[in-house]
Amino acid sequence: MPVFLAHGPASDPSLGADLLLVPNPSPAQGLAPRLDRITRGGAQVVARAVDLGDFQGKPRDTLSLVVPGVVRFPRILLVGLGEDDGITPASVRTAFANAARARVIDRVDSVAVECGALGTGARLRDLVAAAVDGILEGTYRWSASTKPAPHRPGRWVFLARTARGVTGVEQGIRAGRSLGEAVLSARRLADEPANRMSPAALAEEARSLGKQHSFAVRVLGPAGIAKENMEALLAVGSAAATEPRFIVMEHEGDGGAPIVLVGKGLVFDSGGLSIKPSLSMAEMKYDKCGGCAVIGAMQAVASRGVRRRVIGLVPAVENMISGTAYRPGDVIGSRSGKTIEVLNTDAEGRIVLADALDYAVTRYDPAAVVDLATLTGAVFGALGDRAAAILGTDSALIQRLRDAGTAVGENLWQLPLEDGHRQDVETPNADVRNTGKHGAGTIAGAAFLREFTRDASWAHLDIASVGRARRGPHRGATGFGVRLLTKALASWPGGKRAARK
Ligand code: BES
Ligand code: MN
Ligand code: ZN
Repeated sequence: MPVFLAHGPASDPSLGADLLLVPNPSPAQGLAPRLDRITRGGAQVVARAVDLGDFQGKPRDTLSLVVPGVVRFPRILLVGLGEDDGITPASVRTAFANAARARVIDRVDSVAVECGALGTGARLRDLVAAAVDGILEGTYRWSASTKPAPHRPGRWVFLARTARGVTGVEQGIRAGRSLGEAVLSARRLADEPANRMSPAALAEEARSLGKQHSFAVRVLGPAGIAKENMEALLAVGSAAATEPRFIVMEHEGDGGAPIVLVGKGLVFDSGGLSIKPSLSMAEMKYDKCGGCAVIGAMQAVASRGVRRRVIGLVPAVENMISGTAYRPGDVIGSRSGKTIEVLNTDAEGRIVLADALDYAVTRYDPAAVVDLATLTGAVFGALGDRAAAILGTDSALIQRLRDAGTAVGENLWQLPLEDGHRQDVETPNADVRNTGKHGAGTIAGAAFLREFTRDASWAHLDIASVGRARRGPHRGATGFGVRLLTKALASWPGGKRAARK
């Protein structure tokens, strides 16, 4: 992991770096005077490039320049931030992720970031946090290649304008790091293929993150799961050579009624006997994205010392095919006591979540339950890959999560979940069936889950289309959910006292 340092004022000549990164809004005004204070040769080179129209400061604009002579910063990288009034933490994160992917970054050991355009006070702190988060996002690569990893700068120094600014920058760095690293944990775990990330291995990863970041981790194996009567979870895992795990993570905070996060942890989804076609099966190592996001959110919440009590639950299991597989037509039990008619073994996520949700609502008396799952292919059709679907039983909870998502650039759009949708999962043969009947697969999935939430305040995020990026600069796991959950949890009203009323 790179080292991030705060330093200031930027005009201090004792500090140098291989590259000066200058984030700037469009139009690229005010740039030259700022640079004049820091660099001698640099300001002229930049002014010329701006005159020539080579840098306009639009989002995604980057321009790498070489400064002649022996100077503090032999290279300058201009990074566009877009219109001044449109600069938000989310846009700064994207701009820095983009900058961190610039070719020139691979050639330098140290980068100094000029913070002049990032404001002052709380705004400076938040935008530096977003910048650090973005740098981590942009430098992450998952690879099991034995070739050496690409070179990355080891040092990023943020140059504040004033001594007071240095404190703000330091706070921003701390916050951005803890969030950015939590997102990377989620991505790294989700990117691991199933042969390297069994349910047991995922549980060990959660344990080790719990040790590093101080949250408690308890893991149930097959015996513990059976003791909890999680027959639904066991049925889905019954064909696999790997054993299931039920991962329980706990951040105490100030105590009180917790928020419980539940994440679908299918380390692989072959579809089971309702087997998937090869092309769609090939991406099913990503079916644990919800669970990985919950693990990442626990890391972020614990490392930031969020006051709210937060529980994370991840049923981790593999949906495979063998003589012991559960079958289409089977009727299985569940922890709640409800019976489930399995019409399609590929609708397995909702089955494992049924037991996890029941555990959440019966064991914790939670203030709210939020589940994240790559649940339905249908969500692609409904919303594409720019937003996840949110459905649930509590409109205030849904609004809170949507607002948090908007603030961090993780968009949620609500789909309806009405009483009438209960019919979609009705069957004469059992208490509930695991597929819908009338289209709207994402709603049917949520209607099924709702049957296991009793009267809890509950929201379901279907992240099947956003958990993994198929286009853009970063293919692979996105860590979607970590930022929005952390944002929502950090400002959730009512710690111990308020919750007891
Ligand atoms: N894991 C899949 C959903 C999925 C599809 C995630 C594509 C990411 C990309 C889930 O278990 C599944 O197979 N759902 C079925 C449900 C259907 C059988 C009712 C689906 O969406 O086809
Ligand atoms: Mn499936
Ligand atoms: Zn699945």
